[in-house]
Amino acid sequence: MEKFTSVPNKKGPDDFMVAKLLGEDEESTVVLAQDVSSGKYYAIKILDQEKLSQEDKLSQVKKEQHVISRLEHPFFVKLHYTFEDEKRLYFVLSYAKNGELLSYIEANTYLPLECAKFYSAEIVLALEYLNCMHIIHRDLKPENILLTDDMHIQITDFGTAKLPPENRTNSERTTSFVGTAEYVPPELLTTKRSCASSDLWALGCIVYQMLTGKTPFHDDSEYFVFQKIVSRDFKCPTTMNEDAQDLIGKLLVVDPDDRLGSARQGGFDRLKAHPFFRGINWQNLHKETPPMMHRPSSVLGKDRLGSETFKTAEDRLSPSKGGTMRRVSQGMDKQLRLQCSDPEDNEGYGLSLNLSEEEKERRLSKQAETPWNKFADGRLILKIGELEKKRGLSLKYRQFLLLEGPRIIYIDSSTMEIKGEIPWSKELMTEVKTFKVFLVHVPGRTYHLIDRKGNAIKWCRKIEEVKQFYIEQNRL
Ligand code: ADE
Repeated sequence: MEKFTSVPNKKGPDDFMVAKLLGEDEESTVVLAQDVSSGKYYAIKILDQEKLSQEDKLSQVKKEQHVISRLEHPFFVKLHYTFEDEKRLYFVLSYAKNGELLSYIEANTYLPLECAKFYSAEIVLALEYLNCMHIIHRDLKPENILLTDDMHIQITDFGTAKLPPENRTNSERTTSFVGTAEYVPPELLTTKRSCASSDLWALGCIVYQMLTGKTPFHDDSEYFVFQKIVSRDFKCPTTMNEDAQDLIGKLLVVDPDDRLGSARQGGFDRLKAHPFFRGINWQNLHKETPPMMHRPSSVLGKDRLGSETFKTAEDRLSPSKGGTMRRVSQGMDKQLRLQCSDPEDNEGYGLSLNLSEEEKERRLSKQAETPWNKFADGRLILKIGELEKKRGLSLKYRQFLLLEGPRIIYIDSSTMEIKGEIPWSKELMTEVKTFKVFLVHVPGRTYHLIDRKGNAIKWCRKIEEVKQFYIEQNRL
């Protein structure tokens, strides 16, 4: 595994306290974490090394790191540190406290004209900078446009960015499909190539979306979305501001060389001179106070993934408030996402709690081959792993089993005796402290647990998921 060394990486996972989960997809988890020494908050993107090498995603991740570390502009997330341990890569990024622009569009149904104008202008400046750096983002969309504490944009997610030719990695295929269907430019669909003006198409889609709440080529299936894109089949509502209609019409042009902002159309100077941007202070936009808009509930208390957010510094790591790790499955699907995992991975032998009888039988019989089955009492083991249990000055290694029921028991693996159980109730709460340390709070006691392998987040998430499942079933 190659080292990730091009940005300062003097820090390590133990230098950060995890406050909460910010987001998650198949490839990465992003957590909010506090640097213990400085007290500063960061968004840490965590990637699983094994998964990356299995799926041949390493070059993509390296490219992302390479691109972000080159960007020095207020409208992009900044990469502060990178480090790794045996299992994971960590990217420590600036934390954009107000989350995704998409949440604001959704919370407002569509944005007021002044807001759409302001944020379009910020995106234009960001794209102008990328253009100077010969970088094409290729997945520009409101989910990747984050908002800082003072409501300026910070663009993120450079996993599919295209670099200048001299910086391209050999494995990079310029012809592969990248991006998100509704923002994909026609040239990518017809010639399978993106070019310097491809992000301008996405800009056109975003301006339209900010002003209407919908993307211009939305449809039920990707196939129809693509059909609409290549035939430029979109309509601006007649009520839309005329300058905005004109701008969108000049950005959503099939030939990239004819798009406003492209070199042939006078570059970014012509784009910035469009009447839609009249009154924009291009020199000092990042210092201006952005126009007000309604805050989404994510910023008021709940984020799009269902996790609570904090409002004050004290709330951040407090177990009973926003600092506690929360269920993240809301954005994925309604059913609990406790998938069957490989027992070798120490995950468990279960895992959807909604398994069919047949599937449950199959998993129970697999579990029966293990030495831990005798402690499970006929229940599925939902998660298993060795943890250190700290009490006062004593520190003991115990095998922890999260069981259906739900139950959490811990076993002395040298004597194979059950040593205790964490009592379940609705009040049980987990709290991630660092990547290795987490707490389980129950009335009258807090269990202080350490996972040397750095799986504290996974433990808390699973416990919270199980708790939520039983609460929803009225079984807690
Ligand atoms: N989600 C993903 N990256 C983030 C960041 N840098 N700040 C806030 N939320 C994020």
